[in-house]
Amino acid sequence: MKMKSVTLFFLFFLLLEALCCEGCLKEEREALLGLSSFSSNVHTDCCEWEGVECNSSTGRVVQLEFFPSYLIQQRYINYSDFSVFIDLKKLWFWNGNTVGCVGGEGLPNLEILYIIGNNLNNAASIVSCLEGLPSLKSLGLVDNGFNASSFRVFKTLSSKLPNLEVLDISGNYLTNHILSSLEGFSSLKELNLRKTGLNSDIHIEALCSKLRNLKALDLSENNFNQSDIGSALSGLSSLKSLDLGNSGLTLRSILNISKLSSLEFLDLNDNGLKESKNIFWRIKGKDGFKWPSNLQELWLSGNTLTDEFLSSLSGLPLLRFLDLTNNQLKGELNTNASCHLRC
Ligand SMILES: *[C@@H]1O[C@H](CO)[C@@H](O)[C@H](O)[C@H]1NC(C)=O
Ligand SMILES: *[C@@H]1O[C@H](CO)[C@@H](O)[C@H](O)[C@H]1NC(C)=O
Ligand SMILES: *[C@@H]1O[C@H](CO)[C@@H](O)[C@H](O)[C@H]1NC(C)=O
Ligand SMILES: *[C@@H]1O[C@H](CO)[C@@H](O)[C@H](O)[C@H]1NC(C)=O
Ligand SMILES: *[C@@H]1O[C@H](CO)[C@@H](O)[C@H](O)[C@H]1NC(C)=O
Ligand SMILES: *[C@@H]1O[C@H](CO)[C@@H](O)[C@H](O)[C@H]1NC(C)=O
Repeated sequence: MKMKSVTLFFLFFLLLEALCCEGCLKEEREALLGLSSFSSNVHTDCCEWEGVECNSSTGRVVQLEFFPSYLIQQRYINYSDFSVFIDLKKLWFWNGNTVGCVGGEGLPNLEILYIIGNNLNNAASIVSCLEGLPSLKSLGLVDNGFNASSFRVFKTLSSKLPNLEVLDISGNYLTNHILSSLEGFSSLKELNLRKTGLNSDIHIEALCSKLRNLKALDLSENNFNQSDIGSALSGLSSLKSLDLGNSGLTLRSILNISKLSSLEFLDLNDNGLKESKNIFWRIKGKDGFKWPSNLQELWLSGNTLTDEFLSSLSGLPLLRFLDLTNNQLKGELNTNASCHLRC
């Protein structure tokens, strides 16, 4: 009798084990356990572990995310550690100590790679992480402390990353003239240059004349106070989203913004914009200031706009979101556009 219940107990455990670990492949589970940050989770389905995402029909790992614990120990990302995950498409490394990558074969199927808040700060370390990734579509090297001279290496990388559509290098200190290093990435659709120390619309214009397919551009937290940014970007006939938040703009910098005829999303938050009688209202007539006519979402928080400004917002039939908080408005929003808005 006693024997029997022990056997039952044992069978029960076997069953539980089989049930709980379904959906997670044995070899992938073992590989994950070899990566230090996952070792505390031994008894459950690895697809449920924090930072792991599986394809629900195959049970194979498709995305891995690493938080500081892994990277404090690993100063190098070893791509060989990941070759067992044959369906792996996305890799994220957050805030660690990574200074480069090893494991020469690379990851031929990887589509998305983000290395954020690490120390890939010289040309050799950047290159080491981008070898052997021919399928890469999105790359983020945010806040890695690389400077303009190490960034020059991007000139040679465009041929190695022929399918790149999204590039995020925000939070690294670049200079205007180094932007030309990106000219080879002609398939780019989204480019994030937030907080990169830029202040020249001429260099932006030169770059954009090569990146004609851009749909989204983030230039926020730079300084374009002396620019004519609307004209500089006017060659981007597919541009739908533009972020110029906190970039030192004056109204003069955006006087030609209506040249961005496809624009749907525009963020001009925190620029201290104020209408000036000299510039803005003098030209209110036939050739006066206009917003891009297809705008759907307009962020104008944190400026010093007054009631007079509101009339510029009429004639935007598609506008469905408008943020005017933190300005110097006193009256009511009374434009024809307002009937389409949910303010
Ligand atoms: C899961 O894998 C199957 C078979 O490889 C594939 O057809 C499907 O697109 C994948 N699903 C996702 C969400 O990636
Ligand atoms: C990378 O990992 C592989 C196996 O996962 C190992 O054989 C190789 O020595 C590692 N390379 C380095 C430089 O640590
Ligand atoms: C840029 O970074 C590299 C490597 O970190 C360093 O050797 C170089 O002096 C830096 N250059 C500038 C101009 O700061
Ligand atoms: C533009 O910004 C620079 C640097 O912050 C500053 O020196 C200059 O006075 C500003 N120019 C205008 C017109 O605001
Ligand atoms: C706007 O565009 C016109 C025509 O392209 C140009 O003459 C003007 O200098 C531009 N800039 C401003 C601030 O109006
Ligand atoms: C608002 O629309 C009405 C009719 O639809 C028109 O008569 C009026 O001129 C418009 N006002 C403004 C400020 O565009």
